[in-house]
Amino acid sequence: MTDRHTLVVLFTLCTFGVPRILAASKNIPKWKKQACEAPATQNESSHYTCDDNGDMKCLPGWIGDLCDVPICKKGCDPIQGYCKRPSECRCKLGFYGEMCNKCIALPGCQHGYCNNSFECKCLEGWDGIFCSEPVCHEDCHPSKGYCDWPGECRCRLGWTGDLCKECQPLPGCMHGTCSKPLECKCEKGWQGILCQIPVCSEGCHRDRGYCRKPNECRCKVGWWGKNCTQCFAYPGCVHGTCNRPWECNCKPGWGGMLCDQELKYCETNNVTCQNGATCVSLPEEDGNYRCLCADGYIGRNCEVDKKKVEIVGLVPPKPSLMLLKSTTTTPSTVSEDVLLEGDDEYEEETTKPNSSIVSLVNENESLNETI
Ligand SMILES: *[C@@H]1O[C@H](CO)[C@@H](O)[C@H](O)[C@H]1NC(C)=O
Ligand SMILES: *[C@@H]1O[C@H](CO)[C@@H](O)[C@H](O)[C@H]1NC(C)=O
Ligand SMILES: *[C@@H]1O[C@H](CO)[C@@H](O)[C@H](O)[C@H]1NC(C)=O
Ligand SMILES: *[C@@H]1O[C@H](CO)[C@@H](O)[C@H](O)[C@H]1NC(C)=O
Ligand SMILES: *[C@@H]1O[C@H](CO)[C@@H](O)[C@H](O)[C@H]1NC(C)=O
Ligand SMILES: *[C@@H]1O[C@H](CO)[C@@H](O)[C@H](O)[C@H]1NC(C)=O
Repeated sequence: MTDRHTLVVLFTLCTFGVPRILAASKNIPKWKKQACEAPATQNESSHYTCDDNGDMKCLPGWIGDLCDVPICKKGCDPIQGYCKRPSECRCKLGFYGEMCNKCIALPGCQHGYCNNSFECKCLEGWDGIFCSEPVCHEDCHPSKGYCDWPGECRCRLGWTGDLCKECQPLPGCMHGTCSKPLECKCEKGWQGILCQIPVCSEGCHRDRGYCRKPNECRCKVGWWGKNCTQCFAYPGCVHGTCNRPWECNCKPGWGGMLCDQELKYCETNNVTCQNGATCVSLPEEDGNYRCLCADGYIGRNCEVDKKKVEIVGLVPPKPSLMLLKSTTTTPSTVSEDVLLEGDDEYEEETTKPNSSIVSLVNENESLNETI
């Protein structure tokens, strides 16, 4: 363009600037003839010669009406290259190479190439301005899946399957499924956060029984039965039962560690439970028998009349408790055994040395009931 512009200017100058020297020749254009007139021929930067007829002849390597266009190197890309002197091949911005036939891609272009300067045309499987985004497997879920390389389909957290369309159960979920990501909905017969705990058979005791798979009921040591509700009695226990493992609680009429002693002391001996008392046989180590006294009587054989004890009046039943003990001169023959025996209601208080009876009995409590 620039060259052509110059040409026009020159043409204009020749035509109107110097009208007096208009050439007479008919074959040669006026401006061309003009170019061959001095001082133009003497111009060092012109690239032509003039023959005798005043015809212009371009020097080698130059073309154009005024021979001012250099002929570029052979093969130089006509669009991407240019030259200022003959046989050159200079590249326009964005191109390079000997013939300027190579383009410079967009800086940052990753999986692409160029055809024009600063272009980034993506290779197959890549997308984006810099061709840095892989194109995932065709059916890969657009948000639940992703890819690092073309054609892949990787799943985001919580999703699974070839196309990442299925939910992923909570990691570690053992006997469960999901309907949304990271869920663990237990199958029948399982429970717990990871559905790892079997549900034991119905009725299986929650402390005494356990199970390793659904719907069974195994018993812990000491227990048995379908629901593990029954305890094992002490080994060798004969006429006894248990409430907890290894107990041997004797049935009525039986005694001893193994409940193997028949209790018939009252029947076989002349026991003198008095004043309408009832005789209960006990094991030998417990004293063979006990008398259950009628109201108003105390003592091992219920031989003591409470009223008479009070009249003797050694200790008045002041703190609503009656004190009984046979340490000093008690007229009766009350045995402390009867009163202290195996009942938490009786507590030994600080012994008062001067008092004759030191065992505490709730005033209103009938001895009959407590023993
Ligand atoms: C030679 O020609 C150029 C343009 O082609 C022009 O700018 C320059 O002034 C000319 N020089 C002389 C000495 O005529
Ligand atoms: C490069 O672009 C030109 C036109 O812009 C086109 O004719 C040619 O086929 C293209 N080459 C490639 C490899 O795309
Ligand atoms: C065990 O428990 C189930 C459910 O409570 C009950 O139906 C069944 O009778 C129980 N079996 C025994 C032996 O206790
Ligand atoms: C029981 O003993 C009492 C006196 O301790 C006596 O009177 C009674 O006859 C005896 N009875 C028998 C059956 O031995
Ligand atoms: C107990 O008897 C002693 C004398 O043996 C007497 O000094 C003391 O005061 C008596 N205590 C009570 C509480 O009666
Ligand atoms: C003891 O029994 C009598 C009547 O029998 C009653 O008035 C009194 O409140 C009872 N005392 C206690 C401590 O229960």
